[in-house]
Amino acid sequence: GGTGLADAFGRRITYLRLSVTDRCDFRCRYCMAEKMQFLPKREILTIEELATLADAFIARGIRKIRLTGGEPLVRRGIDELVRLIGRRIGAKDDGGGLDELTVTTNASQLRRHASALAEAGVRRVNVSVDSLDPERFGFITRGGDLAVVLDGIAAAREAGIAVKVNMVALRDLNEQEIEPMLRWCAAEGHDLTLIETMPLGEIEDDRTDRYLPLDGVRRRIEEHYTLSPLDHRTGGPARYFRVEELGARLGLITPLTNNFCDGCNRVRVTATGQIYMCLGHEDRLDLRQALRAGDMAELDRLLDRAMRLKPERHAFRIDTPGAAPAVSRHMSVTGG
Ligand code: GTP
Ligand code: 5AD
Ligand code: SF4
Repeated sequence: GGTGLADAFGRRITYLRLSVTDRCDFRCRYCMAEKMQFLPKREILTIEELATLADAFIARGIRKIRLTGGEPLVRRGIDELVRLIGRRIGAKDDGGGLDELTVTTNASQLRRHASALAEAGVRRVNVSVDSLDPERFGFITRGGDLAVVLDGIAAAREAGIAVKVNMVALRDLNEQEIEPMLRWCAAEGHDLTLIETMPLGEIEDDRTDRYLPLDGVRRRIEEHYTLSPLDHRTGGPARYFRVEELGARLGLITPLTNNFCDGCNRVRVTATGQIYMCLGHEDRLDLRQALRAGDMAELDRLLDRAMRLKPERHAFRIDTPGAAPAVSRHMSVTGG
């Protein structure tokens, strides 16, 4: 241990996306099928195992951890996990420490957890809000309550946590809401990122029907607003712009129209301890066996092996109606 992680393309890996559950209380139509087969509980890492795993990554130079799901805040013990990992923020003794611990959430349970997150050192959260129309929000999420989500966001802000809103751009579903969402985020002081839908896992909709390329969205926004490129860096794939007339920050996540893999700095671990080197590939290694055996030397060797397996880029495309998704697992397995 001790040495930093880098892949065969010379990219330093400093960002871990750690999924704490594959379950979710919503069923967003672009993300999940209506009926999902979730992982059996015994397969899932315990809170202690997740914290130990986080430490093993931190010892190898990981500086940023994002907790994801499914929906991370439905995981029992999440406050304790955030507290355990939060102790590493800023710490530099024994091989490192974290610059940032963050969470991506649907905010349905955020009011209950906001103060625990803030106390543990979480400074920012990303919240999925694909519509500000209660009915459309309920449709997209298959039953989510927009008012509860907005209240969760308010609770985060009251606790001193900054909010970035994630909106997956969906043709004929929320595309007419993109500018209203931008104005709402500007008024509320949230950052906004728009995301191109990615072909992960079978769903009922055909993603080619819903795919909205963000280069076109950007041109439409620029008919009304001035977008000035920013060098704001969060460690994620978004390219950020200042929306001059609104004083807002807008990020674009463009896996389909503008590949960002050359700057990749991340790996993902599922709630069962499988490490995935790329969102767009099926390759993975099991870390759970070594973790449960307490064999930290083996865990280190597995991380080195994982680095050698990391592919150069994903090969997502959304252009063939009826085509099988590039990757069979859903986004909820790795949290994106
Ligand atoms: P910050 O930059 O830290 O705010 O995080 P983020 O925006 O990268 O994370 P978030 O969990 O909010 O994810 C937003 C979108 O980016 C999701 O749709 C993710 O699936 C996507 N995303 C994050 N990392 C990658 C990546 O390495 N490859 C691809 N293709 N998509 C990614
Ligand atoms: N393509 C793009 N983004 C997705 N998300 C979930 N599924 C997909 C998909 N197939 C988004 C969620 C959340 C983030 C983690 O990923 O809306 O904001
Ligand atoms: Fe749940 Fe997030 Fe998937 Fe929506 S996008 S179903 S909130 S995991």
